[in-house]
Amino acid sequence: MTAKILDGKAVAAELREHIAQRVQQRLAQGLRAPGLAVVLVGQNPASLVYVRNKRKACEQLGFVTKDYDLPATTTQTELLTILDSLNADSNIDGILVQLPLPAHIDPNVIIEHIAPHKDVDGFHPYNIGRLALKMPLLRPCTPKGVMTLLAKTGVELAGLHAVVIGQSNIVGRPMALELLAARCTVTICHSRTRDLINQTRQADVLVVAVGQAELVKGDWIKPDAIVIDVGMNRLDNGKLVGDVAFATCQAHASWITPVPGGVGPMTIASLLENTLEVAELSKT
Ligand code: GUN
Repeated sequence: MTAKILDGKAVAAELREHIAQRVQQRLAQGLRAPGLAVVLVGQNPASLVYVRNKRKACEQLGFVTKDYDLPATTTQTELLTILDSLNADSNIDGILVQLPLPAHIDPNVIIEHIAPHKDVDGFHPYNIGRLALKMPLLRPCTPKGVMTLLAKTGVELAGLHAVVIGQSNIVGRPMALELLAARCTVTICHSRTRDLINQTRQADVLVVAVGQAELVKGDWIKPDAIVIDVGMNRLDNGKLVGDVAFATCQAHASWITPVPGGVGPMTIASLLENTLEVAELSKT
């Protein structure tokens, strides 16, 4: 069988259109546009691209952004002071501090300093805890986007065996919590997992988020599995590939996400969705 493509680009475009309409409804009611503060410290090349894309998407949908482009020498105290002012700013619904931060800044201290109800990345321990308890408020954007894509397959997730490769705080762990909340039986694999192929071959749903180009091969896939590729790797020849060897895996799976155009666009759409949700809870 040849897997059907889970077209993240198209699903994200649909979601963004819906969000844009909700923003216009707010403005027509005399309510303010959703406001997102985007904080970048330093000049990490990948972060520059991500932040530019996030700001552009906000602008296109009528959100207001407050942009901070801070030098790499910014101290942790200076960053905490900026967060204090954003936490108190009633025009700001969401605060995003792009990761990674320079080595002299502790990301955990920064994340915990963002008011949990403005933490549109969903990284604050409060929001991760809420997700773990199956009472989510703000959900991490990439796993939330993956759940939106999985819903598009129409496949009932309850009872399926889901295998997540990767245990990062940004993707792997919250992804496993999302799948557990959807009543999957969940296995988390990581660099110390023994016999990884034996694990992936049990997966009805396989989510790969490790940052290793084309790690997962076709013979790792259970027939008719749903394969979600969160990876984004640049080969020496300039080609962008995922963590999954697309062509051979497509031959075994029932659904598969492409790279690019799969999970990537869903992350930004979820961020906009989270920010709008916060704005809709406020009275202004
Ligand atoms: N760095 C890589 N992915 C993300 C993300 O989703 N949010 C933030 N803030 N930083 C990131």
